[in-house]
Amino acid sequence: MPLPKLSPLQSRLAASLIASAMLVILYFAISWPHFAYAAEVDSIRPEDHNHERLLETPYLDLDYEDIELRELSYEAEFIGFDRGIIGRATTDPTPMINNVAITTNIPQGQVMFYLFTNASLWADKSPETPGLPSPIILNRRSFDTSAGEDPVTKDEDVNDDSEDGEGDEQDQGLRLQPRQSTTDQRTLYITVTTCTQPTSNTTTDPAPQLQLYVSQSKNNTNPGPGQNSDLQDMMELDQGYALYELNATGNVYMGIYAKNDSTYSGTYNAQIAASIDKPYHYYWNSSDPNLFVADSDANSALLFTDPLIANSSNTTLYEEWMNITPPFQIFASDSGSNSIMGLQNSYCGLQTNAQIVASRAGQTTSQIVTGMTDIGVGTLPKQQFYVTGLGAGKTYNVALAMSGNSTASGDGVVGGGGQVFKMTTFDTLQSDNCAVIYGLSFCNQVAYAVPTNPNTFPNMSTLAAYYDNATAYNYGIFKKVLAQIPCDTTSSAQYSLARNCTSCDAAYKQWLCSVSMPRCTDYTSTFSWLQPRAQGQPFPNGTFLDPATLKFVNNSAALNGSRNASIDTSVVPGPYKEVLPCEDLCYNLVQSCPASMGFNCPQPGDVGFNESYGLRPITGADVNGRFANHTCNFPGLVYFKSAGSLALPSQIVVVATFVVLGLTLM
Ligand SMILES: *[C@@H]1O[C@H](CO)[C@@H](O)[C@H](O)[C@H]1NC(C)=O
Ligand SMILES: *[C@@H]1O[C@H](CO)[C@@H](O)[C@H](O)[C@H]1NC(C)=O
Ligand SMILES: *[C@@H]1O[C@H](CO)[C@@H](O)[C@H](O)[C@H]1NC(C)=O
Ligand SMILES: *[C@@H]1O[C@H](CO)[C@@H](O)[C@H](O)[C@H]1NC(C)=O
Ligand SMILES: *[C@@H]1O[C@H](CO)[C@@H](O)[C@H](O)[C@H]1NC(C)=O
Ligand SMILES: *[C@@H]1O[C@H](CO)[C@@H](O)[C@H](O)[C@H]1NC(C)=O
Ligand SMILES: *[C@@H]1O[C@H](CO)[C@@H](O)[C@H](O)[C@H]1NC(C)=O
Ligand SMILES: *[C@@H]1O[C@H](CO)[C@@H](O)[C@H](O)[C@H]1NC(C)=O
Ligand SMILES: *[C@@H]1O[C@H](CO)[C@@H](O)[C@H](O)[C@H]1NC(C)=O
Ligand SMILES: *[C@@H]1O[C@H](CO)[C@@H](O)[C@H](O)[C@H]1NC(C)=O
Ligand SMILES: *[C@@H]1O[C@H](CO)[C@@H](O)[C@H](O)[C@H]1NC(C)=O
Ligand SMILES: *[C@@H]1O[C@H](CO)[C@@H](O)[C@H](O)[C@H]1NC(C)=O
Repeated sequence: MPLPKLSPLQSRLAASLIASAMLVILYFAISWPHFAYAAEVDSIRPEDHNHERLLETPYLDLDYEDIELRELSYEAEFIGFDRGIIGRATTDPTPMINNVAITTNIPQGQVMFYLFTNASLWADKSPETPGLPSPIILNRRSFDTSAGEDPVTKDEDVNDDSEDGEGDEQDQGLRLQPRQSTTDQRTLYITVTTCTQPTSNTTTDPAPQLQLYVSQSKNNTNPGPGQNSDLQDMMELDQGYALYELNATGNVYMGIYAKNDSTYSGTYNAQIAASIDKPYHYYWNSSDPNLFVADSDANSALLFTDPLIANSSNTTLYEEWMNITPPFQIFASDSGSNSIMGLQNSYCGLQTNAQIVASRAGQTTSQIVTGMTDIGVGTLPKQQFYVTGLGAGKTYNVALAMSGNSTASGDGVVGGGGQVFKMTTFDTLQSDNCAVIYGLSFCNQVAYAVPTNPNTFPNMSTLAAYYDNATAYNYGIFKKVLAQIPCDTTSSAQYSLARNCTSCDAAYKQWLCSVSMPRCTDYTSTFSWLQPRAQGQPFPNGTFLDPATLKFVNNSAALNGSRNASIDTSVVPGPYKEVLPCEDLCYNLVQSCPASMGFNCPQPGDVGFNESYGLRPITGADVNGRFANHTCNFPGLVYFKSAGSLALPSQIVVVATFVVLGLTLM
């Protein structure tokens, strides 16, 4: 029975004149101290953020035992006195309601007390809600390092992983097994998140973390520092978050303590919530951030969540994920700013302090465009984030999050406090002659940085349209040649039974997209597997490389120009480095198309190979996927940070386009 929110005047009127009969009866029946308190809202000290909560508290939640307890403690104070004059007793615990967070300011050196009553503990659990189409399972990412790899094989691996991880509660997160609730105990999830914390002029280290104290003992109704440690448990928040799970049997008493540290000034602001359903706030304590940076340029970045399902064999489930209102959001901050340090596991901490704040899923802010996509190997649903307005040459901290349960948040919503995943990082490029493109209609698997010139292509969509059109045009020529070749007739030693015109077509398209849209990174990047390009041209700002370098590159087509001559004539990006396409794109093309088409790949060691193709990394990748052994590129590779480069002297691409017999695809 929540009471309406009233202004101080209204609430006085309500209490004295127009209160319902029920309220009056309640008032006299239980003499609940807070009830009187609520009628004196204007006397509440301004720093007390609980007053709204107090007004809303359904007092029926309390049982008589509590009230007796309180009356014993506070009788003397209440008889004949106005609490507004006395001031609020600091030992007076604030009653909590299932799945309703209390937001409080906590001055340094003080403890705030809360109570979850036995009656609330044994109240009915909240009804199940539909939830996401399928549960989030972490650490099942497939490392998409192989374009040619059979997606089915990869998916099987993925399934094995998830089955193996079935018992791993840490990564199963909210799929908590329902506790076997014996008749005399029930699981209570207490969560605390820090929204703001004291700051310091003298250190960049974050302020000390808050501490949560929990007691189930009637002999310790004010848990906190200095109380008998046998009668309470203490948990320190970790980066602004704590989840304390207990099997409760009666009233549960809580205290949040802010250490006093003179290095810092200001107070803490924190949320505390208790739930008999599942944690109201949630931090996914896993090594997997559930988020990948596909690529970045000087002022934007493209990020994807992990695939949301292991395979697309259930088409209903696939459609449900693809059609969902994007459920996730991201928060990011320049690593030079320490505003989110110490708060990074806290949803309200990120929301209050992050520099780049996503609005609710599905909406577009000036800085973040998001949507569902199935780009990448396996065509698995994932959520994509295109973040703009970043600074050049910076490192950003970024965390995936969810507002409430993804469709609702706040009071009364199970999990209404939001979810946060492990923070990860990405870098932006230094120079402006690479730009991330995505959402192309022909090369629809391209989602990485390509050479650009901001003077010629000031926005992403015209650049993407230019590359896509040029590539589709060349593909049209190939299709005409393919139409004349009887590639579906009989098999031969060169042309496998398993391959036909469809596979030739697909292999050509993948190869063409990757050689036509070289993956671009800073010229200053020093990774050995990068191929310098277009060194003879000026940078977009008009500067040339130093004369010694120019002299050296002058007679090398591979170094002096781009892989594709039209980039040098239409884009004029200036010096950049290319992440070379993976060599197996070429092998796959040769194997998939009839020998009569005459495709041929250079072999490692051949003249020109090193400038044309990159080798696959030996093994998987590191968990963050940042430059993770990612030494070659292919369209659909979305899980690794780019660092690419080029290969083919442009005339070779042209020749390949015309599918001349005996062609080596450099
Ligand atoms: C916190 O520490 C400061 C300086 O040491 C002291 O003046 C202040 O009284 C302390 N506050 C509390 C609540 O302990
Ligand atoms: C979120 O909570 C609201 C309110 O309880 C509920 O109506 C909704 O279905 C929930 N959403 C999901 C995705 O479970
Ligand atoms: C930090 O600086 C402000 C003014 O710049 C000052 O008022 C405040 O006391 C300083 N705080 C600490 C903890 O030194
Ligand atoms: C609580 O206090 C009472 C009275 O002092 C005592 O009898 C009882 O043993 C105490 N309980 C615990 C768990 O300490
Ligand atoms: C995450 O898990 C580690 C290891 O189990 C634990 O030490 C840490 O406190 C946990 N952090 C949070 C925020 O729960
Ligand atoms: C709660 O009780 C269940 C079953 O009695 C037990 O498995 C579980 O570990 C307990 N949880 C805590 C946090 O004590
Ligand atoms: C808590 O409530 C339950 C159910 O109403 C009751 O059986 C139990 O005795 C109560 N426990 C305490 C400690 O009051
Ligand atoms: C797809 O994933 C589901 C659930 O993980 C699994 O049961 C099924 O066997 C998988 N199908 C294939 C073809 O791998
Ligand atoms: C496919 O997904 C739908 C929607 O989530 C689910 O109802 C159905 O049981 C799933 N089918 C199989 C075979 O797993
Ligand atoms: C022009 O751009 C290049 C690459 O970003 C940079 O190295 C160079 O310093 C710039 N020159 C001037 C004059 O700004
Ligand atoms: C697409 O590319 C072709 C060939 O380069 C060119 O003739 C045509 O004008 C381009 N179309 C657009 C819209 O850019
Ligand atoms: C080509 O082969 C694939 C499987 O190998 C098959 O699904 C497809 O229908 C074939 N296409 C044509 C045009 O025969």
